[in-house]
Amino acid sequence: MHFDERRAAFLQDRLQRRLKECRLDSFYSYYRLLISAQGKQELSCLLENLTVNETSFFRNKAQLDLFQRDVVDELLRAKQERGQCNLKIWSAGCSTGQEPYTLAMLVADALSYCRLRHPQPVEAVLPRPLVPAPWRMEILASDINYSVLRVAQAASYSEHQMAGVDYGYRLRYFDKVGDRYVIKKAVKELVHFDFHNLKTEYLPQNNDIIFCRNVMMYFDEPEQRRLIEKFYRCLNPNGYLFVGHAESLLGLTEKFRMVHRHSGTAYQRIEEDM
Ligand SMILES: C[S@@+](CC[C@H](N)C(=O)[O-])C[C@H]1O[C@@H](n2cnc3c(N)ncnc32)[C@H](O)[C@@H]1O
Repeated sequence: MHFDERRAAFLQDRLQRRLKECRLDSFYSYYRLLISAQGKQELSCLLENLTVNETSFFRNKAQLDLFQRDVVDELLRAKQERGQCNLKIWSAGCSTGQEPYTLAMLVADALSYCRLRHPQPVEAVLPRPLVPAPWRMEILASDINYSVLRVAQAASYSEHQMAGVDYGYRLRYFDKVGDRYVIKKAVKELVHFDFHNLKTEYLPQNNDIIFCRNVMMYFDEPEQRRLIEKFYRCLNPNGYLFVGHAESLLGLTEKFRMVHRHSGTAYQRIEEDM
């Protein structure tokens, strides 16, 4: 984790909270605890306090329009032509799950629209599955923070967290349980959660699309360059990378081209023989 001067106060505040919780009176004694054999649990607790987990459903609508209307549509057509009816998406730094579930809902809608353009025989299976055969869709959602992964897996959200979700989506993709909104089982089954630290070398491969939004901004520049290089290798040829609104690949790599439509931005992997 990188904390420049602008984030020093944040780091100090979070460390102070842990010191208080552990009833320690100096940073040095806290450091001794962290490096001790018993410090492992405290280290993961500290880590969870140092990550910024802010997220929401349908975050950056313009970018999601580009994702659904152009990128997914283009990939579905290209894959269908090649007879490869599978789509693999990775939400890297997924926090409490709103991002990967949003992507699942958007792709499910894109597939329904596809079905509308190419109607199936009337005897097709009812109720219709979210991902109709022969398509297979896999969304991997990962984070470094186990607490947020547990919340994501529970898939239960408050009215406040549902602010960005319109009625159509609420009706189709959520069940109301008491005063909470719970993601329907069919949507949940499309998303798999796992722990991954983006700073390690071994990251999930063969993705068509990677979303890594509002994560890179907490890394220093050399670490950002390394991560972009790893994402390049984790993407299939011509695959797409989506980064946060306040993030950019400009000046960090020559291996992606910027795609800007519907006021949204994405980056497409450039192939060496092009
Ligand atoms: C601000 S949230 C962004 C969530 C979501 N992508 C979005 O844009 O709404 C950043 C997430 O990145 C995770 N994160 C930070 N450093 C990470 C790392 N080295 N490896 C994996 N995840 C990390 C944090 O735990 C946090 O949940």
